[in-house]
Amino acid sequence: MCGIVGYIGNKKAVPVLINGLLSLEYRGYDSAGIAVLENNEIVVMKDKGRVANLQNMDEINNLNSSIGIAHTRWATHGKPSKENAHPHTDNSEQFVVVHNGIIENYNELREFLTKKGYKFLSQTDTEVIPNLIHYYYTNGIDDDDKFLRAVKSAVDDLKGSYAIEVISKLHPDRIIVVRKDSPLVIGKGNKENFIASDIPAILSHTKDFYLLDDYEYAVIFKDSIKFFDNTLIEHSKAIKNIEWDATSAEKNGFEDYMLKEIYEQPNAIRETVGSRFSLGEKCSFDDIDISKEYLSNIDKIWIIACGTAMHAGLVGKNAIEKLCRIPTEVDIASEFRYRDPIVNEKTLCIYISQSGETADTIAALKLAKSKGAKTLAVSNVIGSSITREADYTIYTHAGPEIAVASTKAYTSQVVLMVILAMYFAEILETCDEKTICELKSDILDLPTKIETVLDSMEKLEKFEKKVYTEHDMYFLGRGIDYDVALEGSLKLKEISYIHSEAYAAGELKHGPIALIENGVTVIGILTDPDLTLKSISNIQEVVTRGAKTLIITNQNLGNVTFDYVINLPETNSLISPILSVVPLQLFAYYIAKNKGLDVDKPRNLAKSVTVE
Ligand code: G6P
Repeated sequence: MCGIVGYIGNKKAVPVLINGLLSLEYRGYDSAGIAVLENNEIVVMKDKGRVANLQNMDEINNLNSSIGIAHTRWATHGKPSKENAHPHTDNSEQFVVVHNGIIENYNELREFLTKKGYKFLSQTDTEVIPNLIHYYYTNGIDDDDKFLRAVKSAVDDLKGSYAIEVISKLHPDRIIVVRKDSPLVIGKGNKENFIASDIPAILSHTKDFYLLDDYEYAVIFKDSIKFFDNTLIEHSKAIKNIEWDATSAEKNGFEDYMLKEIYEQPNAIRETVGSRFSLGEKCSFDDIDISKEYLSNIDKIWIIACGTAMHAGLVGKNAIEKLCRIPTEVDIASEFRYRDPIVNEKTLCIYISQSGETADTIAALKLAKSKGAKTLAVSNVIGSSITREADYTIYTHAGPEIAVASTKAYTSQVVLMVILAMYFAEILETCDEKTICELKSDILDLPTKIETVLDSMEKLEKFEKKVYTEHDMYFLGRGIDYDVALEGSLKLKEISYIHSEAYAAGELKHGPIALIENGVTVIGILTDPDLTLKSISNIQEVVTRGAKTLIITNQNLGNVTFDYVINLPETNSLISPILSVVPLQLFAYYIAKNKGLDVDKPRNLAKSVTVE
């Protein structure tokens, strides 16, 4: 969703801002804009559509300013248009603001400002902010901190979520930022500083970051940064060194980020397993302090997440229940937070979020905390909001994931959830050593096995060429294969815009089979030896009715014939999704490419869903 970039230093700001916006494109947006201070005047350039529209404006290249703010907007209040695009200035054009999030009480604030004579040029909730700042500035006491105090007074009036950058022609040496429930990071350079809503946007400039907290203000000069709490008391703040390599956020010769990220999965798994265990050793999670006494006392685990992360949670549930025998339920964060869930001190709530910034997931975490449950975050982004809210955090080490459709984050989340389940089982002694030892060995073999799957995809391309023009497809599986079917179906919808449904194969007869007719495409996933024969029977039922079938399996299917069969290496069924999802990711990818679609930035979708 909306992205923020800022720069102050000695360089020309515009290229830094534009490059930052380009690297935030993956978040999803519909308009873009920048504001700089040029000869002590605010210059705003914005339009609906892509960042490329800004790059094509002749005047933009003539701007020499070395202070500026920039934004990509994902419309919430007011349609995508030039007027509604950020940045927004106050009526007197002394203050200019970009904002991520939603101001819930903007109508009330608009009325208040209208009565004071302010006019509004857009339909956005954001436009109240620069005008409020102007209002408090002109009514404030004249001293050095006047600008910061005006920003704080304006922010005090806001209800909702926000990450805000403000510059003023009256104070051309600084950018003021503040956040609540919306991400914002500050990158420290040498006599220059950077601001962004995501680390990758400025990773090519610095690896030293300050992660702003909720209600925390920063006043950013080119050679210093001052931090203030919500009462404007100044404090010092620790810097975090982010190990991600800037090139890991680039395409490195691949046509698309998504393809690159699919191919990065062997390494993402290696990095995520890291030193969590080695053969013959118990799993270790030094980063969390969960005792046997605590684990023995919990009577339920919830796993809560959105989208692909929720699908990783389903695989996690399977592993926790099988290895630890703790009842585990998976819920969608936006449902969980409003269902008055049964959560108390005897519940452990696990939140999976690649970005760590998904608004519903964070809200669901805060809810469980308020009910006395312990919370554990599984995230890919160091210092992300969710990790700062949770009691415990464990990280996947997938590196930056840029494509909207999640791939390497999913497989990394799955492997980490399974290792967590083994860790709990070792503490609780709920599983025999041999089973765990074999599972560990299979996990260590995963990277090589993914490489094998990636190397044998010709059949998949053949099948994809036969079906890419279709409008509906069905994914079938039982048990853990159903969990993967859900993820395969989501990938297909997200990037190819083909309608698809995933069904538990046993449910076929209870409705979906009515949709099966000659030529319909059905993808079956069969990796669980205990369920293979049952799934084969279900898939034969669709074959009989004329379906075209693609089967993803590591089982011996005997003499049953299907149109196309992709054979996977064998592995423990608890981790089989890490292999079986790969052909499904590539299937969606090839179809989207064949249809000429933008696989990395599918329509209407955002990588980081920071509003409810
Ligand atoms: C969006 C993304 C998905 C992602 C989901 C949850 O919908 O497009 O790829 O799975 O959000 O994101 P999170 O960062 O919380 O894992």
